[in-house]
Amino acid sequence: MARRFTNKKLVIASHNPGKVREIGELMAPFGVEVVPAGALGLPEPEETGTTFEANAELKALASAKAAKLPALADDSGLVVQALNGDPGIYSARWAGPTKDFAIAMRKVEEALAGKTAQGNHDRRAYFVAALTLAWPDGHTETFRGEVHGALVWPPRGLRGFGYDPMFLADGQSQTFGEMEPDAKHAMSHRARAFKQLVDACFG
Ligand code: IMP
Repeated sequence: MARRFTNKKLVIASHNPGKVREIGELMAPFGVEVVPAGALGLPEPEETGTTFEANAELKALASAKAAKLPALADDSGLVVQALNGDPGIYSARWAGPTKDFAIAMRKVEEALAGKTAQGNHDRRAYFVAALTLAWPDGHTETFRGEVHGALVWPPRGLRGFGYDPMFLADGQSQTFGEMEPDAKHAMSHRARAFKQLVDACFG
């Protein structure tokens, strides 16, 4: 049995305002007040884990212990089968210091083209989101959501963010960069992880 969330306040262990807003909206129906880690002056720990789950856990625990309140963190990325899982937990880093995802997508495509030249035509990929709810006593509950599909080139669509324009989810004709935001949010890796979290800890 997962531990249930019974507090009034929840720290969001993210310094990304978009994520904080999105999580605040998701938590609103449960009467939870969300507090961004930045507003409490909490530092951002280094993401030294080797899995999405480990990074979500270390971020959530660092905030929960420092704030003495439960904290929620996520870690996500794109896993490309033919690239042995790259960019994976380094998905943000592939965009370089300017956070340019046109560069990151091109790097993925170039690596895939290298595989194609060697006879490997596998373009399957999936997005992963790990979500951890941590308490100040060190207890954690972690959930993982995935959405599977294939990578297209050239990228299509101006919506979404990150690798969305080159990701075509199974059964869809539009990339995540072309889809209506609500349609993406209904099927995304993050939505799937959130549903598990809500069912287990907030339901
Ligand atoms: P982090 O979880 O903030 O460490 O960043 C994960 C990185 O993975 C993001 O910067 C994006 O590049 C990528 N990513 C995660 N989720 C998505 C998504 O839904 N669409 C496109 N890219 C994503």
